[in-house]
Amino acid sequence: MPQPQRFEPNPDGLRVVVLISGGGSNLAALLAKEQPEQFGVQIVAVGADRHSAGGLQHARDAGVPVFVERISDHPDRAAWDRALTETTAAFRPDLVVSAGFLKLVGPLFLARFPGRYINTHNALLPAFPGMHGPADALAYGVKIAGATLFVVDAGVDTGPILAQTSVPVLDEDTEETLTERIKVAERTQLVEQVSLMARHGWTINGRRVVTK
Ligand code: GRF
Repeated sequence: MPQPQRFEPNPDGLRVVVLISGGGSNLAALLAKEQPEQFGVQIVAVGADRHSAGGLQHARDAGVPVFVERISDHPDRAAWDRALTETTAAFRPDLVVSAGFLKLVGPLFLARFPGRYINTHNALLPAFPGMHGPADALAYGVKIAGATLFVVDAGVDTGPILAQTSVPVLDEDTEETLTERIKVAERTQLVEQVSLMARHGWTINGRRVVTK
């Protein structure tokens, strides 16, 4: 039986790097909460896989350092994985948060941040992994949808679950309305959970994760 892995809080505030690809509304929610004393988090950098990630501006506006590592700037995916790992590691994060980062990281990245890389997904895993969670949920006809925060492993949306939050699916929903309802709940969950991790640390015991 593998031993539980314990991650202690950083008394100076949890150092967090956030990775994004898009508009960065989850990032904005984290940045908005960064100041209050109780939050216990410092966002030390924001990284993206593309220059067009709108969320980079949220980071610049907040005075947070940004970096971009594009796969196309590297000879192959392994080289990109190495570059992303080294650039991220240079900020000495206690936690790396994928908030709409649309790339699967490679083995070097996972080995460098074991148990310290989390992702928020806009579906109730293990249902509807992948890129189209809300559309897949709607097409299936489920009545409850939501978001899952989990510790990333080598699979696609398969890692141990930190937290889940649910929202109703309404009869008149479109992909857009459901996606937006999920995002509101998802942001609240992300901020709450990262704050819990910062203040209490976390323990991973097989598939079970506890934030206290
Ligand atoms: C989130 O809903 C996340 O679950 C999905 O992409 C969205 C990112 O949104 N993978 P934003 O860039 O934080 O606004």
